[in-house]
Amino acid sequence: FEDSLAASREVAREIAALIKSKQKNNQQCILGLATGSTPKGLYAELVRLHKEEGLSFKNVISFNLDEYYPMEPGSIHSYVYFMNELLFKHIDILPENTHIPEGTLTKEEISAYCNAYEAHIEALGGIDLQILGIGGNGHIGFNESGSLQNSRTRLVALDHITRVAASKGFGGLSKTPRTAITLGIKKIMEAKRVILMAWGEGKSNIIKAATEGPVTNQVPASFLQEHRNVAFVLDKAAASKLT
Ligand code: F6R
Repeated sequence: FEDSLAASREVAREIAALIKSKQKNNQQCILGLATGSTPKGLYAELVRLHKEEGLSFKNVISFNLDEYYPMEPGSIHSYVYFMNELLFKHIDILPENTHIPEGTLTKEEISAYCNAYEAHIEALGGIDLQILGIGGNGHIGFNESGSLQNSRTRLVALDHITRVAASKGFGGLSKTPRTAITLGIKKIMEAKRVILMAWGEGKSNIIKAATEGPVTNQVPASFLQEHRNVAFVLDKAAASKLT
């Protein structure tokens, strides 16, 4: 796409069409959602479609990819805050239908919680459409380099490069969380449709590696080469290194 605005609009159109086709059949639409700077334009467009074109999210059930750990849901740094401010409070999705990994669990609770998060997705028939961004190191969700293709939802240590990227928002590296809970790669790969979005020159090298390089756990996004229904939605700059 010429720019991220046009690209985000196209992704929003696809999501809207999916939600409406599910509505017609009286079905729920299970969306996997991401945070970070990349999907901000997408969420703004979904809010516009709701407010100006009457798109309803009443049949949508959402599961976010990740949350920092530990993290209070009321913190401005939380992904709960991000999702509420940028999307949920502006649309008619039912609050009980939104799910974000909890950042306030005790260490002992995390493993059972992660299993239940996956079981909940499975009980609903799996994710219909998963939205992804990509980290500078090729991470998807917070599945950092070295994550296995069949990795489960779990507590992970954040890479230094991921923490540096996040540190501006946290007011310095020392205040940036070292760990997070992330949906594993297995559930991402099981989604019926995956859309990975990336904007800007800064993502061009990792986009090339993920799409034209070998499938390797050093670049977790490269696993998507083996997904049967995936799109990489890029602006010109992010696509500029592709052959
Ligand atoms: C966010 C997430 C991450 C981001 C990635 C890119 O929920 O799972 O994988 O998508 O770190 O972040 P931005 O979009 O800020 O460049």
